[in-house]
Amino acid sequence: MSPSTILAISAVLLLSTATSAFNVTRILNQYPDFSEFNGLLTKTGLFADINSRAAITVLALTNDHIAELAGKPEDVQKRLLSTHIVLDYYDILKLNKLRDTKTILTTLYQSTGVADDMQGFLDVIHKADGSIVFGSAMKGAPHDIKVLGSVASQPYNISVLSISKPIFAPGIDGSYKPVSAPPPKAAAAPANKVPPPAVAESPEEEVADAPAEADGPVASDAPANAPAADAPADAPVADGPSADANDQPKPKSAAGKHVISGMSLGFVVALASLLVIH
Ligand SMILES: *[C@@H]1O[C@H](CO)[C@@H](O)[C@H](O)[C@H]1NC(C)=O
Ligand SMILES: *[C@@H]1O[C@H](CO)[C@@H](O)[C@H](O)[C@H]1NC(C)=O
Repeated sequence: MSPSTILAISAVLLLSTATSAFNVTRILNQYPDFSEFNGLLTKTGLFADINSRAAITVLALTNDHIAELAGKPEDVQKRLLSTHIVLDYYDILKLNKLRDTKTILTTLYQSTGVADDMQGFLDVIHKADGSIVFGSAMKGAPHDIKVLGSVASQPYNISVLSISKPIFAPGIDGSYKPVSAPPPKAAAAPANKVPPPAVAESPEEEVADAPAEADGPVASDAPANAPAADAPADAPVADGPSADANDQPKPKSAAGKHVISGMSLGFVVALASLLVIH
């Protein structure tokens, strides 16, 4: 193999690495309108979580739309921003192809394990007029966040969409109060539907009164109820992996191609200068 062949082969290898990996900071750096949002991703360290994912969607805010979020304490900012990072690839075409009126998306916040209730999920609502809006999947949260456009996309790894305002999951600022006592997931569901179990209120008296009986049935009852009432209604719908998988091969994004070819071009130019030097 001649040195030039080897160089050519390494050039191809370098190029393929360059196009398959992404760097959200570098993508957003190309758009000064998103400088504050990009700065927050850096400050909170979330850029690293984004870059480590194979398929991700970032719901980004321009400097004009970020004030409400920018004014929060840093830990709250991080939690809020994590709900703007969807753990799957959605560009505009793919969003438009969602056939259900409501689709639930899982965000990075859900993967932290600290999300209460549905705080880690987003609803995407396909309205009758064809428009698409986002909102927190928490009960009662408004669905009024518009998708303003695609900023960048690298199918099917990363999509950056511009949205009209920050998403606020109720209680995510630390004000969330579980309806019932300590274990929020198990306690919340029965408490909504059933009067709070006596055991939860005064465990010591119950135990003193009738140790074996009071403890046994009630304890085994609550967990059995909780998943049945909660999980099927909410969680499994959330991921919708089958719909995603079907969608993968088709959509193309013109806007994204532009950005990516720009990035690859940078590498070509860099390589070209290397070749010239040698
Ligand atoms: C991502 O891009 C930023 C800005 O260009 C750069 O500072 C950083 O080193 C890059 N990270 C990686 C892992 O390439
Ligand atoms: C991009 O997605 C493909 C499959 O969709 C995956 O194999 C690849 O690892 C992803 N690239 C990155 C940089 O995560």
